[in-house]
Amino acid sequence: MFLDCFEPAKIDTWVRRGVISGVTTNPALISHEKAPFSMKERIDKICKLVNGPVAVEVTAREHESIVAQAREFHSWNPGQIVIKVPVDMTGYAVISELERKYSIPTMATCIMTFTQGYGAALAGAHYLALFWGRMKEAGISPEEAVMLLLERIEREKLRSRILAASLRGGHHVFEALAAGAHIVTVSPRTLEQVLAHPKTDEAIAEFAEDWRCARERGLMG
Ligand code: E4P
Repeated sequence: MFLDCFEPAKIDTWVRRGVISGVTTNPALISHEKAPFSMKERIDKICKLVNGPVAVEVTAREHESIVAQAREFHSWNPGQIVIKVPVDMTGYAVISELERKYSIPTMATCIMTFTQGYGAALAGAHYLALFWGRMKEAGISPEEAVMLLLERIEREKLRSRILAASLRGGHHVFEALAAGAHIVTVSPRTLEQVLAHPKTDEAIAEFAEDWRCARERGLMG
């Protein structure tokens, strides 16, 4: 499971809980920051917190400038940084160049259809970020896209891993995992929801009360 987050304190909390093996960021998450900051220092900090991939999204719009920006981001920590590239018509060529010419791992992002995911996989992307919530909003079945992509990846021995993103709640996390997505990237808030349950809290409270009663009655020596 990856954490969809740009806040070091939250990343630290979830890494300590042992369930996070990577982080995804995007321009929207970055725009929520309240004070000026150094992008490089923040990404450095996140890389130190998580022992795994950290996805950083390019924002340039032209092929050459996207490649230059990607190479700059990747140079900050070549062992961990994965470059997120949106899959518009420039994006496929950028993915192919970063992967094949520079051996820079990419995460094809903003994927809404099976065919976009397949195209990105053929271009060589390490990760295919399927935008689950947005696909559902558009009436596109992410489950079907995952099923078809898994088939193609297996049949053609492609290296891409399917990452379900844009998850709007616990139900989407469940759906994505059940459909066979290799990875889900989840916001801290949604992760709190999926790893907790009121019946769990109820059981814990009951056991605590039973333990207190047993002590009160002097049952334990
Ligand atoms: C993660 O990689 C994505 O950037 C993120 O989940 C997008 O989610 P959104 O649909 O809420 O923008």
